Parts: sequence; structure tokens; C-alpha cells
Amino acid sequence: MSDTPVLKTVNLGINFGGLKAVDDFNIEIMQGELVGLIGPNGAGKTTVFNLLTGVYAPTEGDIFISGKRVNGLKPHQFVAEGIARTFQNIRLFKQMSVIDNVKIACDQSIKYKLGGGLLHSKLYWDEEQRVHEKALELLKLFNLDTKADFVASNLPYGQQRKLEIARALATDMKILLLDEPAAGMNPVETAELLDSINMIRDKFGIAILLIEHDMSLVMNVCERITVIDYGRTIARGLPSEVSNNPDVIAAYLGTDD
Ligand SMILES: Nc1ncnc2c1ncn2[C@@H]1O[C@H](COP(=O)(O)OP(=O)(O)OP(=O)(O)O)[C@@H](O)[C@H]1O
Ligand SMILES: [Mg+2]
Repeated sequence: MSDTPVLKTVNLGINFGGLKAVDDFNIEIMQGELVGLIGPNGAGKTTVFNLLTGVYAPTEGDIFISGKRVNGLKPHQFVAEGIARTFQNIRLFKQMSVIDNVKIACDQSIKYKLGGGLLHSKLYWDEEQRVHEKALELLKLFNLDTKADFVASNLPYGQQRKLEIARALATDMKILLLDEPAAGMNPVETAELLDSINMIRDKFGIAILLIEHDMSLVMNVCERITVIDYGRTIARGLPSEVSNNPDVIAAYLGTDD
């Protein structure tokens, strides 16, 4: 295994007008690691993901994927470098079938690799068959293969969240960013989701950065946790260290949820 972090940020920051939404953010994640990013509402967690996926360009600092500096790349180029994400608010093609939601993510990377001119050639159709099988395999991991032809919006909420993760996995990523994947889930769905996250990490050997609002949830699955509040890192370390940190306790008690 390489000793270069899959993901590294150095003094990463962004200003919105006068507001430093993320300030001096430093993280290193190795292959196979599961790291938590937590903090109260409005702390800057999603903004970190938007920086790490090229949605926003940082106003300060650098981002490295497997040692390569990727500042200034476009979102699809971040995907090509191996970053995949899910969104805090589910973003599926609601009227499309479950399997097409996954296939379209695979297709994006194929088009990127083959170029538009090769569309509908034999090579493309061979790829299309391969994509179909790959999508089915991904759905199987989440027990969604029997629902491949369902319209996405007809899935129960917890399964829509899983479908979003399956879709993110279709892009052959090195690191997966999950933005509050358990939001809105009931306890049974949450427990299943945590199993799925562990399964993904073990099966794909990828790195995962998990945003969660609920501290107790990340404590169970993450090896390391970074806590941010008002855009600044207030603690990082093992779950046990972080949960006993007075600044972290104050940040959480300071909010009304
Ligand atoms: N595009 C933007 N323009 C201006 N301000 C923004 C923008 N995006 C985020 N912010 C601000 O940056 C801060 C951090 O927001 P962010 O969504 O990253 O928080 P969060 O930690 O994900 O919160 P939550 O737990 O509610 O999801 C907030 O004050 C937010 O209003
Ligand atoms: Mg958020």
C-alpha cells in the first residue's frame, strides 16, 4: 500500500463575502481509512465537500489527490481523479429506473474515456453491456438488484439513500465522500447503512470521509474524527479523544439539537 495519502488538504479555506466558511482545514486520509467529519449546523462540513469536489475553488490552500495537486480542476475532472460523493439532499433522477440511475454514472466515465465520436460504435455497445452488468452488481451489494426496474422515486427513503451510494461507487473512485447519508433514516435503516459503509470500505478498499451531524453515529464506525465549528477545526483524533474534548462538548451543547 502506498504511503501517499489518497486525500490531503493543506490550509484549505474559502471566503463567502466576509464569511470564512472553511478556514485552515487540514486533513490526510490513507487508502482504506474511514474518517468522520462532524460539527454543528452551519459548521462548514458540506462546504468542505464542495471544495473537495471542485464545486467551489478554494480561496486559500491546496488539495491533493494521491499526491497530485488538483486545485482549479472542474467537478468532472475531480471525478476522473477518483473522488465521488453523495449529497445531503438526495439527488437521484427520480423518474428514471433504479438501474439507469447507476448506469448513467458509469456512462459519464465511459464517455469521458472514449470521447463522443465513438458513441454507438461496437466498442460503445460492448461497454454498454459491461456497464449493465456492473450496475447490477453494485445494486446487489445493497440488495437493490431485485428493484432494478423500479422508478427511483418509488423506493422507500432509506433505499434511495443506498441507491445514491451505489451510484457514487459506479465511478471507480479512490475516495468516497458521504454527506449525512443517515439523515432522515429510522434506526433500522441507519444500522443497515452503517453495515453497508463498512462493507464498501472492506470490499473496495477505498477511503471514506463521512459527514455526520450525529456524533454518536460516527463514533461507531470511524477510526478518526475531525470536528469543525464556524469553519475552523476544533478537534481531531480518535473517537474517544474527540468525544471527551471540552471544546467539542461545548460546540454541541451550544446548539439546540
Ligand atoms: N454558496 C454560499 N454562499 C454563501 N454562504 C455559503 C455558501 N455555502 C455555504 N455558505 C455558508 O457557509 C457556512 C457553512 O455552511 P455548510 O452548508 O458548509 O454547513 P454544514 O456544516 O454542512 O451545515 P449542516 O449541518 O446544516 O448541513 C454557513 O454559514 C452557510 O450559510
Ligand atoms: Mg451540510
